[in-house]
Amino acid sequence: MHLSAYFVFILFCSTSRVTALDDNLASHRSSAFPRHFYLRRSSSSSASRNVPPEGYYNPLSSGGSMLTQVDGTYPPGQGEPLNIIISGNSDAAVLVDQSINGGLLNYFQSIGFSGECLGQHAGTAQRADLGDGNGFFNETAEKRWNYGDPQLGTCKETVQGGDHFRYWIQSGSAGNSGAIFMATSYEFPLSMGHDIVPNGYNLGRDWLIGNITKSPIPTLNLTNSSTFSGTTSANSYTYHNNIQYVSGLLQNSSMGVNHNASVPINGLNAIDGLVAVIEVTITGQPQGSKSSAVCSIERPFYGLAFLMAITLLSLLS
Ligand SMILES: *[C@@H]1O[C@H](CO)[C@@H](O)[C@H](O)[C@H]1NC(C)=O
Ligand SMILES: *[C@@H]1O[C@H](CO)[C@@H](O)[C@H](O)[C@H]1NC(C)=O
Ligand SMILES: *[C@@H]1O[C@H](CO)[C@@H](O)[C@H](O)[C@H]1NC(C)=O
Ligand SMILES: *[C@@H]1O[C@H](CO)[C@@H](O)[C@H](O)[C@H]1NC(C)=O
Ligand SMILES: *[C@@H]1O[C@H](CO)[C@@H](O)[C@H](O)[C@H]1NC(C)=O
Ligand SMILES: *[C@@H]1O[C@H](CO)[C@@H](O)[C@H](O)[C@H]1NC(C)=O
Repeated sequence: MHLSAYFVFILFCSTSRVTALDDNLASHRSSAFPRHFYLRRSSSSSASRNVPPEGYYNPLSSGGSMLTQVDGTYPPGQGEPLNIIISGNSDAAVLVDQSINGGLLNYFQSIGFSGECLGQHAGTAQRADLGDGNGFFNETAEKRWNYGDPQLGTCKETVQGGDHFRYWIQSGSAGNSGAIFMATSYEFPLSMGHDIVPNGYNLGRDWLIGNITKSPIPTLNLTNSSTFSGTTSANSYTYHNNIQYVSGLLQNSSMGVNHNASVPINGLNAIDGLVAVIEVTITGQPQGSKSSAVCSIERPFYGLAFLMAITLLSLLS
């Protein structure tokens, strides 16, 4: 490739990174540009992924845990359940932690979840050990139900409470499935200290799944043979979701579960021991987009990139 053509390519590709930010709000902020230089902790590359038939490695099989670590619990050492998994058998594009190309953040938007209010992070980070050789490490990010408004809805969630999740990517060398593990719960309003509502782990999971299927999930009737499906979309990407509830990963018990004094209802345990495993397939994408493209150019930055490239070209020649 001619050297100047190479520079044009690099410019286009690096410019597209501006949009690969943590949340949708970032692209609306005038200060978005400096964040260009941040590189997010990226998910595993599909080349090195090795996905077992189930779509994830069971963290318990290699010293991990299905409960997170939370700072400052009473009593100390309580954790929150990883109760949703996005299967490593999902389309590879969905498992990449980015907004572009139909990636994970766009998928989250399709199910009604966005970045935190104005990019702020209210809670402290939790840690999870997915048994992939990375040990306990901080959550990648936290997403909140956006009340149907991707821009400001998560501010409402922060104040009024609601559904939210933290997530981690199983990508360590001892278990690189690329699967996304999510600790989901439904919390009280900020004024009540953001505690978890009664049955709030199971309900947080099932309201998220219900938003995918667009019909209520019968929480108290679920078994390890419950299956559902649904279609979601955001920014012209359409996702088909196959959901299977599985047992054997999470405990069906209250032991060690955060807020286990107030969360259980009807004499049942704080968590029912079921994990919703979602396999996501991209069934539609914006016209003209190529999911296999080496890099993609987002429109707002196209003009700028083009101008910079032309300037560089004329300097070089
Ligand atoms: C994990 O998050 C906490 C904030 O909750 C931060 O203080 C700490 O530095 C983070 N650790 C790593 C390894 O990034
Ligand atoms: C969708 O999510 C909201 C917020 O968690 C919840 O109130 C609602 O019941 C959910 N819808 C379904 C059909 O589960
Ligand atoms: C749960 O199961 C019971 C008994 O099988 C049934 O009567 C009830 O309608 C079910 N509830 C839901 C929400 O599916
Ligand atoms: C489903 O749960 C039952 C107990 O409720 C258990 O005997 C069975 O092995 C489980 N099946 C699977 C596939 O995990
Ligand atoms: C909550 O978990 C702790 C262990 O961390 C246990 O000692 C306690 O009995 C549990 N409470 C309930 C109500 O199960
Ligand atoms: C969880 O255990 C309780 C008994 O403690 C049982 O009634 C319930 O069916 C179990 N839930 C599942 C999903 O297996």
